[in-house]
Order: sequence, then C-alpha cells, then structure tokens
Amino acid sequence: MLKNTTILGTTKITGLLGNPVKHSISPRIHNHAFSSLGLDYCYIPLGCEPNDLEGLIKTLRALKFAGANVTIPYKSDVVPFCDEISDLSQLTGTVNTLFIKDSKLCGTTTDGDGFLSALREDNFDPTEKNIVILGNGGTSRTLAMILAHEKIPATLTLVGRNISKVQPLAEEVTQKTGFEVTTGTFTDDSTQKKFLSADIVINCTPVGMNPAEPFSPISLKQMHKQCYYFDAIYNPAETPYLKQAREIGARGQNGLRMLLLQGLASFKYWTGHTAPVELFNLDELLAAIEGK
Ligand SMILES: NC(=O)c1ccc[n+]([C@@H]2O[C@H](COP(=O)([O-])OP(=O)(O)OC[C@H]3O[C@@H](n4cnc5c(N)ncnc54)[C@H](OP(=O)(O)O)[C@@H]3O)[C@@H](O)[C@H]2O)c1
Repeated sequence: MLKNTTILGTTKITGLLGNPVKHSISPRIHNHAFSSLGLDYCYIPLGCEPNDLEGLIKTLRALKFAGANVTIPYKSDVVPFCDEISDLSQLTGTVNTLFIKDSKLCGTTTDGDGFLSALREDNFDPTEKNIVILGNGGTSRTLAMILAHEKIPATLTLVGRNISKVQPLAEEVTQKTGFEVTTGTFTDDSTQKKFLSADIVINCTPVGMNPAEPFSPISLKQMHKQCYYFDAIYNPAETPYLKQAREIGARGQNGLRMLLLQGLASFKYWTGHTAPVELFNLDELLAAIEGK
C-alpha cells in the first residue's frame, strides 16, 4: 500500500515543477518513500505557466525548499536559474533535479542514472554493446549523451523519421563526447542491418503510448530474439513494441523502473538517504498510474 506523508511545521518541501503535473505519479513515489523511511519531507505538485517559472523558483528558494524534480516543458528552461549545473546537465542542456548544496541552487539530471540502473536491475549490461536509440527528442538526447560520454557502447546509432533532425543531434553528441554516433531513418537499408545486429534497441518515441493507436515504432521483421528491447513508455505496461519482443522470445522492459529509479536518485540528492527500490511494488505503481 502506498503511504502518504504527514506535514508538520518542520517539514521540508520538495516537489515537481512542470506543466501539466496533475497526472504525475511522482508525488505518490516520493511521499511513500519519505513516510516509509520516517523522513520529515513532503513532495507537492508545482505546476506553473512559463511566465511564472522564474517567480516560482524564487519563492521556492525563499521557502528554503530541499529540491524538486523538473519535467516537461521546463527541463531546459530552469538551467539559467541554477547557480551551478552538473557536467552531465551541461552536456544534455537539461535539468530534471534541483537540489541545494552549500546554499546554492544546483541542477543535475538523473534520467540516465534511472535508465542504467533499470538495465542493471534486469541483469542487462550495455557495456560494449551495439546500441540503437529510436527518436531524436529529449529522452534520446539525454540517453545518447550519457551513453556516449561514459563510452559505454561498442556502437551507438540514432534512428529517427526525419534525418534532418537526427543528424544534428548525432553530430552534437559526437562533438561533445568524442564518441562517434551513426544515424539512419526507420526505412534505410543500412538501418535494417543495424537493427539486426543490435544488442539493445531503446524506444524513446511516444509510439505505442496511446492505446487508441496501437503501433510499434519498428516492425517484427526489424527485431531479433537475441536483442534486448527497452521502451521508455510505461503506460501501457506492454506496448505493441514490447508485445512483439515477447512474441519472438526477446527480453525487454518498459519505462516504469527507469521512472522510479531516476526519482529515487533525485531523492538521494534531497535527503542524503537511499530509498530502496524494494519499498515499491511495480504492479501497485502501475495501477496508480493507470488510475485503477
Ligand atoms: N520512463 C521514463 O522515466 C521516461 C522519461 C522520459 C520520457 N519517457 C517517455 O519517452 C517518450 C519520449 O519522450 P521525450 O520527452 O523524449 O519526447 P520528445 O522530446 O517529444 O521526442 C519524441 C521523439 O519521438 C519521435 N516521434 C514522435 N512520433 C513519432 C512517430 N509517429 N514515428 C516515429 N517517431 C516519432 C519524434 O520525432 P520528430 O522529431 O521527427 O517529431 C521525437 O524524436 C515518451 O513516451 C515519454 O513518456 C519516459
């Protein structure tokens, strides 16, 4: 059962900055973790309009808040309001976690941590593997930067539907990390070879998120049994992409563990405590996300 936290006069404030935030599962995750570990913190929704972002951050500083998560559409917009940002955030240009250190407002991103920990938890090691990322948006950028910066893959390929968007991202990742990134579209012949020699394919497009449009970003013919299929989407739990992977006997996982683990990485910045993943039941979290 997900617990809630008790708010006292001494309670330290954390929350989620974004727009919209009302469907987020993050308040449930963090308040459960605070309560389970007996920590005097609370996590609240901090939805605001773009013009109010600067004022809200000033207010949070005045309230001596402990930190916050940042989500769409403000992951880049908060950067100028930070006193310091991590090397990783300098690479990605985004911040998903604000925290206070030595009275300074610091920003970093834990999205990559969440992704890599989710793979580790499922006993998949991406080191020296052929990695393909689908999409060229915010999540693709963050994961590509982290994988390339840490020199994790043997090869890294970005696949998108519009080469004029994929190519500049690949060039930027290569230029900032020194790791060569190749590109393709979903239908290029060279991409088919990449798909069939891939050890892991990571879906960072929203294709499959909407149950009314049950599509996979790649076809069954572009998949093979020895590959690991990761979907950043967590609702529905089994997208058409993951269903195809299951049908050919390939391993994979959805984005729920990534979401949870990036949140718990932020939690450590605010509290100094590690919230064990065992505090959570993934089925219960999924039911909460689906509003069941
Ligand atoms: N599990 C987690 O913790 C977590 C964290 C972050 C995001 N996510 C999920 O990851 C997904 C991507 O999020 P994001 O923030 O990176 O989104 P984003 O910045 O909007 O990027 C979306 C990407 O998907 C591509 N795309 C959209 N529709 C497509 C289609 N029909 N066919 C092929 N490509 C298509 C876009 O291509 P164009 O550029 O050509 O339009 C773009 O490259 C979302 O489902 C989000 O919920 C999960």
